[in-house]
Amino acid sequence: MSKKVIILNGSPRKNWNTYKMCESFANGVKESGNEAEIINLYDIDFKGCRSCFACKLKDGKNIGRCAYPDGLTPILDKIAQSDGVVFGTPIYYGDITGVMKSCVERLLFPFFEYKEGFPSIAPKKLKTAIIYTMNVDEKTCQDLYSATLNRFEWFVELVFSKPEKIFAYDTCQFTNYDKYVCECFDKVHKQKRKEEQFPIELEKAFNLGKSFV
Ligand SMILES: Cc1cc2nc3c(=O)[nH]c(=O)nc-3n(C[C@H](O)[C@H](O)[C@H](O)COP(=O)(O)O)c2cc1C
Repeated sequence: MSKKVIILNGSPRKNWNTYKMCESFANGVKESGNEAEIINLYDIDFKGCRSCFACKLKDGKNIGRCAYPDGLTPILDKIAQSDGVVFGTPIYYGDITGVMKSCVERLLFPFFEYKEGFPSIAPKKLKTAIIYTMNVDEKTCQDLYSATLNRFEWFVELVFSKPEKIFAYDTCQFTNYDKYVCECFDKVHKQKRKEEQFPIELEKAFNLGKSFV
């Protein structure tokens, strides 16, 4: 029976770096005979966790489930019923985007108990992957962002499974660098990255998608 993968795009831009990586991943999943759905989080009307703790109420009807009803509710349900979830996010201020963070608060928090070791009560140990795209190069990412990103990855593993990771570093941010005030990034270098390196990252996303579930 075919499996279903939900791919969350945490970038506001459709058809840019993060979306394209998500799309390539989705194509890989489909190539393997499974289903993939990309959800653009910026299209959804929702906010982060309200700290209502209904998901932790003793004998409560919302144990293990985010009780706050809004646009994210059907997506959380879809993820809970899926076989794998992919978090695609640009790096904003050295972290996942605010919208992705809000989604993750609502998705993960109900699924771990306030008990020794924070045991997971997720209905399934979903397969997980994270797609990061960013302006900086690999070394800068390692030096500056790895502690923050490791913390996010730790929570994903706590609830579901150890995430596979793919990175697109040193991405191109604009179609035409001449139109923007942008003196510290070299447009020739960025164009070269876009033409030579980004297709390689897309292929990595495709291959991971193909072997994911
Ligand atoms: C508000 C904002 C903050 C950003 N902060 C960072 C950052 O801290 N580090 C970095 O490497 N790139 C940063 N970037 C660049 C994006 O992460 C990068 O261009 C990414 O590939 C964009 O993804 P997209 O093309 O899907 O929108 C930032 C971009 C924006 C708009």
